Order: sequence, then structure tokens, then C-alpha cells
Amino acid sequence: MERLDKFLCDSGAGTRSQVKLLLKEGRVTVDGKTEKDNGRKIDPRIQRICLDSEPLRPVGRVVVMLNKPAGYVTATEDPADRTVMELLPRELRGLDLKPVGRLDKATEGLLLFTNDGDLLHRLISPRKEVQKLYYARHEGTAGQEDVAAFAAGLTLRDGTVCLPAVLKPLGPGESLITVCEGKYHQVRRMMASRGMYVQYLERRQEGELTLGTLPRGQVRVLTDEELAALDR
Ligand code: URA
Repeated sequence: MERLDKFLCDSGAGTRSQVKLLLKEGRVTVDGKTEKDNGRKIDPRIQRICLDSEPLRPVGRVVVMLNKPAGYVTATEDPADRTVMELLPRELRGLDLKPVGRLDKATEGLLLFTNDGDLLHRLISPRKEVQKLYYARHEGTAGQEDVAAFAAGLTLRDGTVCLPAVLKPLGPGESLITVCEGKYHQVRRMMASRGMYVQYLERRQEGELTLGTLPRGQVRVLTDEELAALDR
């Protein structure tokens, strides 16, 4: 976040005193609304600042994190179901954000969105090996044979071969699973192939990004440090 007057000066709108006048004359808008307060805090990465109706700087790369609740499909539109796009707050709509990969309708947890196509492809490519960590509640209890089968690379019931993955049993009916690919219903199908049907699934981590304390259903913009970590 930065002060509106500083942003205007840095964007070449004028000197500090000229900027003060522009604001006073009502020639500056923030997300379509006239703004006269030069001390107003703005986030130029996600807000559209215009002078005389002209955008001052194109919106840059935006990456946001949603703590997805169950009941929403990962799609930009859907004829029957509510989509994750409906969970984006108004100020983040119109930025051309797309979900990074997908979580099933019933799955909860960390879902990223970005307007950066290159980043999107990098994050979902199995070759880049971005690790995704899931918490599952399931039938049965995972044992050492299951752990070894995950580590060796499972073959699903339809013959699909999975890359090696990490299964960490937490106790009866509870496990953590780490995978670096995102095949259709992957974790549910991996667990089912070992007879452990998943009843609840939550993604907790993607690369170095974690949900932290982000409440279910809420969205936040990634910090600069988190963005830098995505580029490493
Ligand atoms: N694997 C699944 O089975 N479902 C998800 O939503 C994500 C990973």
C-alpha cells in the first residue's frame, strides 16, 4: 500500500503541489470513484487509478490466495454451480484473474489466482515439481506399505501412472499427502487405489505458500516476499 499523492507523483502526473491541485479538482479516480484525499492509501497492483479518466499505469502481475470452502467449482463460469470466481471481492474482479489448477467442488483450502499466464503454467506443470500438500480424512488407516507404494509411484485403477508422492499417516483415518502434479481427482484416486476412500480433503500448501491464518472463504493478495518465492 502507498499514498495516493506519492503514486501520482511517481507516475508522472505532476509535482507534489500540482498533484494536490489535480486531486482537489476531482480529476483523479480510484476504481471509478473520484478521490480527493491525497493521503488515501492505495494498492496500485490491484486498483485502477485514473487521471482525467485515463489509467495511469497498467495493473501489474497480481496473485491472490483463496481459502476455498466446499461447494464451489473451480471454473470461471458454470451453468449449474457456484464458481470460485464469486468468492473474489469486487475490487479484484475485472483483473482477468484465473484459478491456478483446480480443486474439486468438495475440496477446501489453498487456491491461487493470477493474471499472469506464464506463472499459471509454471505452477501447474508437473515438470516444475511445485509440491502441493493435502490433509485428508479417509476410510482405513495408512500403513508402511501404502507409504512405500506412494513413494514408488502409484498406478491408479484405470492404469494412470502417478509420479512418486509422499504419504504421511497421522493416525487412524488421517493422512498428509504431497504430490507435484494435478491430475483429475488425483489425491482421491490415489487414496482409493489403496482402499482408503477420502471423506474430506483440504489443500494446505503449494510450494512455499501456506494458508496461514486466512479464514475459510477469504481472499488475500500475496506479499512481495511471497511473489519473489514463486519466482525462485
Ligand atoms: N486431488 C483431488 O482428488 N482433489 C482435489 O481437489 C485436489 C487434489
